[in-house]
Amino acid sequence: MDRIRIRGGRALSGTIPISGAKNAALPLMATALLTDGPLTLTNAPDLADVTTMSGLLAQHGLEVTRDKVARTITMSGGATNLEAPYDLVRKMRASVLVLGPLVARFGQARVSLPGGCAIGTRPVDLHLKALEQMGAQIEITSGYIEAKAPGGLKGARIIFPQVSVGATENILMAATLAQGTSEIVNAAREPEITDLAACLMRMGARIEGLGTDRLVVEGVPALGAAVHPIIPDRIEAGTFACAAAITGGQVLLGGARLDHLGAVVRILRDAGVDVAEVDGGLKVSRLNGLRGTDVVTEPFPGFATDMQAQFMALMCVAEGAAMITETIFENRFMHVPELARMGARINFHGASAIVRGVPKLAGAPVMATDLRASVSLVLAGLAAEGETIVNRVYHLDRGYEHVEAKLAAVGADIERLPG
Ligand code: EPZ
Repeated sequence: MDRIRIRGGRALSGTIPISGAKNAALPLMATALLTDGPLTLTNAPDLADVTTMSGLLAQHGLEVTRDKVARTITMSGGATNLEAPYDLVRKMRASVLVLGPLVARFGQARVSLPGGCAIGTRPVDLHLKALEQMGAQIEITSGYIEAKAPGGLKGARIIFPQVSVGATENILMAATLAQGTSEIVNAAREPEITDLAACLMRMGARIEGLGTDRLVVEGVPALGAAVHPIIPDRIEAGTFACAAAITGGQVLLGGARLDHLGAVVRILRDAGVDVAEVDGGLKVSRLNGLRGTDVVTEPFPGFATDMQAQFMALMCVAEGAAMITETIFENRFMHVPELARMGARINFHGASAIVRGVPKLAGAPVMATDLRASVSLVLAGLAAEGETIVNRVYHLDRGYEHVEAKLAAVGADIERLPG
């Protein structure tokens, strides 16, 4: 397995191009099941999860063509296989996003339950209950979701008891082909949802309320071809903002959008990081000390849970203490023991962690456990004295395009050691 070696202590300087968003690309690819297309996505990131989703759609019978130079993915043809098998779904939970489109367009689907992952049990009950409200018959047999809607889905008023990005996406996609009008109340408001709705509208869907927690969808008989640019990855942008801050550098995040970062901007500024919107992206610098700053993760526009581990790494070398509370997932502190091995002072109990800043971290061999935990260890390594080896780098490759090349290009002493 590949590892990444970092020798810390260098301030980053230069421009980092931000790639297309992983968490937009995956649902956008699933919309290809709603039409014979062709659907072309531009600004597509070169990520392991995109490769997995390409394979999943291909086994459903779609023609999937990726051009990594032009950064496009084109999908065409209709699904001939309505089953998403366990061996693919267990590799990537976002595979469950094929459920809504398949039931909406073909009246049935057999999708493996995704199962949990390192950060939590991550059930899909909200997806299933909402589809049942739209007329689907759902059964769970041998770890598979068997969904049937022989007469097609019917529009319904769906009120989510809690915000769910994936459930909002599944139901939004399904509602575009349902008979009648659907209302999605307490919908997630992440920029990736708005991007998904914009693409669906390009394909002929009728959606109102973009960017709000109430989406109204008027079902149409069919969706057509479209070309859609994927929004820049706000979590990648936030991650590299933390990289600039933790090394005391100055970086231009090419293509990043301030409005997509929500509360992350305010929290970074409170912590002493300068974030400025400039032509071509965001300029991030840290000229003075870092201040311990409390944060609670929340659905957008609150502080993103996907930024929690990265911000914790930053707080490890801040002056003072920071209370970090994770409200979205039940087990998203697995980076804590690894950061502690580098000299961080962190105590956590339940959903909250207290980080007491230290003057310096020390490089060490560390183990990654999930995507964002992995990158928090890379950030710590960039600031640490000495050498850090991050193991299990495949986690990183799921969500960060050529991370070591992007960081090396702005001065980091970082290289990938082939496994
Ligand atoms: C999406 O996951 C993202 N993944 C996650 O990013 C992100 O952390 C999460 O949204 C929250 O922002 C993609 O977009 C591919 P949820 P998702 O449904 O849709 C509970 C990353 O690092 N829940 O909003 O699975 C769930 O257990 C990944 O890029 C139910 O109880 O997240 C969690 O506690 C990690 N029942 C909370 O809701 C359900 O039916 C939020 O989950 C669905 C969710």
